[in-house]
Amino acid sequence: MKQALLAALLAVFVGFFYKFRPTAPRLMSFVPHYPATGVALQITEPKQKTALTLARVDIPQVLDGQEVLIKNGAAAQNPVDAKQVDNGAITTFPWTSGGDVAGEVIALGKDVQNIKVGDRIPKYLEYEEASSIPLAFSTAVGAVFSDLKVPIPPAGSSLPLPPNREVPVLVWGGSSSVGAYAIQVLHLSGYKVVTTASPSNNEYVKSLGADIVVDYHDEEKAVEEIKKATDGKLSLVVDAISENHSTELAVKTFGPDGGIITTVLSVDDSVKKGRTDISIVSSGARIVYQCANRRPLVTGTPKYLDAFRFLEETLEAKLFKPNKIEVLPKGFLSVDDGWNRQRAHKISGVKLVYRIADTPGFVDV
Ligand SMILES: NC(=O)c1ccc[n+]([C@@H]2O[C@H](COP(=O)([O-])OP(=O)(O)OC[C@H]3O[C@@H](n4cnc5c(N)ncnc54)[C@H](OP(=O)(O)O)[C@@H]3O)[C@@H](O)[C@H]2O)c1
Repeated sequence: MKQALLAALLAVFVGFFYKFRPTAPRLMSFVPHYPATGVALQITEPKQKTALTLARVDIPQVLDGQEVLIKNGAAAQNPVDAKQVDNGAITTFPWTSGGDVAGEVIALGKDVQNIKVGDRIPKYLEYEEASSIPLAFSTAVGAVFSDLKVPIPPAGSSLPLPPNREVPVLVWGGSSSVGAYAIQVLHLSGYKVVTTASPSNNEYVKSLGADIVVDYHDEEKAVEEIKKATDGKLSLVVDAISENHSTELAVKTFGPDGGIITTVLSVDDSVKKGRTDISIVSSGARIVYQCANRRPLVTGTPKYLDAFRFLEETLEAKLFKPNKIEVLPKGFLSVDDGWNRQRAHKISGVKLVYRIADTPGFVDV
């Protein structure tokens, strides 16, 4: 039987939708039942001036204890994929980009429990929508649950938790992928959510649980509207953009006691303009570092396992929505077009997704 696997990938972080017990090793030896090679889209030169190309790659035949190998059904575009090419961060070639994936489990490391070969990761969604979750959700919960120290709703809670109107949180950039997840996590946790978005995304962010939506294009007006919406008491901010003055503007929206801003990129402390009562924490840089170095997210903060338990419960109860998606034609052969749309800032309120089987020449028997 001939089978072509496209971009089978070690799903180091996707595996954490489930609980592991590393102290209880499996007693059987690992015998792979899948092909030795697959196909991946590859970066072949510094800053990739030529079109991306498909190449045959080895599929790992031996996994580390807690790793899960999945056969991808769909891959979502993440801004970091093109950014790391454009800024010259990739120095080893060929290089396979991409970490936002969803698919079927085809092999398990010896210490993995509660997942079996044949499972879908993650559960409850089609692969196309599911592929929007891994990095952006991880970034959002790192910001909300770890850095802003919002308590994770306990297992079995009736959600959303009762509104806690005394504690507003600003999500700057609510229609972005990370912002859309941060809004939902905060709303389900009972917080009042104020967010910024273009008017065309107003209804979308409200449907995710935002209480107040502010158009950010008139910057000073936006700052005043946010201060009014939060009674001048704002102390918690998720800056899901961290570019084009967003952090600097968010600093201006704080109340007199300061607080915490989480960012998705590294931002220089000078944007605080002397506000020593405000801390900036880069949740996004931490996630990108951990994924790039294949570090399991749970080593970053122990709250991740509980956050993924929360995700699984809320997906099953249909309380949590994946990002809106746009599936591009021709699978991986459209990635160059998708990256160019990102470079031209022509992505609004949607995640671009590539269905593996749509790639011309794909064979899966
Ligand atoms: N996605 C991840 O997993 C992840 C992880 C770590 C870091 N990051 C970083 O986080 C940033 C956002 O990533 P993403 O995937 O969430 O992006 P995205 O979904 O592609 O972002 C597009 C959205 O950003 C909004 N936006 C752009 N400029 C804005 C501004 N100045 N103020 C408010 N909203 C603005 C747009 O809103 P409107 O169309 O409504 O105007 C648009 O909907 C990127 O720099 C990325 O590298 C992302």
